[in-house]
Amino acid sequence: MMHSVIPFFGSARENTEIASEASAAIHAVLCSGQMLQSKWVEAFEDGISAAAGRRHTVAVGSATDALFFALIALGVGPGDEVITTDLSFIPSASCILRAGATPVLVDVADDCNIDLDRAAAAIGPRTKAMIFVHLFGGLTDPARVAAFASRHRIALIEDASQAFGAAYGDRPAGSTGDISVFSFDPTKVLSAPGSGGCAMTNDSALAGQMRRLRYHGKEQGAFLEPGYNSQMSSLTAAVLDIKHQRQSVWADRRRQIAEVYDNTLDRLGWKRPRWDPAVVHGRHKYVFLAPDRDRLRDELLSHGVPTMIHYAVPFHEEPIFSAFVDDPTAYPRSSSFARATLSLPINGHLEDEEVARIVSALEAFQTSAEIAVDTSMDPAPMARKVG
Ligand SMILES: Cc1ncc(COP(=O)(O)O)c(C=O)c1O
Repeated sequence: MMHSVIPFFGSARENTEIASEASAAIHAVLCSGQMLQSKWVEAFEDGISAAAGRRHTVAVGSATDALFFALIALGVGPGDEVITTDLSFIPSASCILRAGATPVLVDVADDCNIDLDRAAAAIGPRTKAMIFVHLFGGLTDPARVAAFASRHRIALIEDASQAFGAAYGDRPAGSTGDISVFSFDPTKVLSAPGSGGCAMTNDSALAGQMRRLRYHGKEQGAFLEPGYNSQMSSLTAAVLDIKHQRQSVWADRRRQIAEVYDNTLDRLGWKRPRWDPAVVHGRHKYVFLAPDRDRLRDELLSHGVPTMIHYAVPFHEEPIFSAFVDDPTAYPRSSSFARATLSLPINGHLEDEEVARIVSALEAFQTSAEIAVDTSMDPAPMARKVG
């Protein structure tokens, strides 16, 4: 039987829901002629600052640029080392190269975020900062992360690109560290009609420098330093602002769907990353450890269920970082995750019928006991198999 393919991302349905409201906003922006650095951009910045409890938000062209500007503003440059995760999307580490500094890749813990015990061992005299990524939308205790950074006297950048709307207890993503970064690319929880990102901080000097960096080093009419051109358009900000108002409804739906998947995987005995019970997960991505991943992907697709892999290659295996890897065996967990993780569709607009179809496709998959052992969260069996 032929199945229609369930959309992996929700942006088409999400955009359809807001299309008429967005049309009016787009009309107003277009007719104003104020396409950049406008009241729409400021309103969006103020709205998300308030949500994260931050004093300043600097909207920019992408989170990739926001991470780079954050490093520059914190004074990171050649000769400095910056700790980051071994498992994420590439800009979480390549921004360090862009700043001329040295990335120090650290293995992850069971929650897929930097293992702070391993990070402690990676601290050296040249360590200047840490980029802490909340992968998939799940936070590691922000108080622990902040205490780690202050104990080692290093700057802290929170890469919350995947964690918009997530929290740890009542502490929202985006509220920790010297600078926090969000992405609004079209696949993200708060998704723009194009590229977009921001950097947040409580420090007005850091905010001022990141504002200068986003537009040619300009401040109050004068050009103070070399800069870039990475602005958020008023059209993007106006659409993001409308979507921001609806986030909590869409986030609840994501969490409801994740709970259905959690229960299904528990019934099947399949493993998934584990987060502290205090985590209010953003459910940007729904990731689990697949038994016999390739076969499962084919089987799911035959039921009209698309999947993705986040992430198939840990950073220490990427050519771009090869010069910075002393010991390739120092990453057992990220390696093990990378070989088994599979992402199911999750978004605020999946229908009940689609979620039920995903669940029954998972249940229909038959697996052997031997394969189940290979997906253990304990990296040792996986490392042996790979090695
Ligand atoms: C963890 C992480 N950091 C940084 C980025 C970069 O975001 P952007 O696409 O807005 O540059 C992304 C997203 O793509 C991401 O997932």
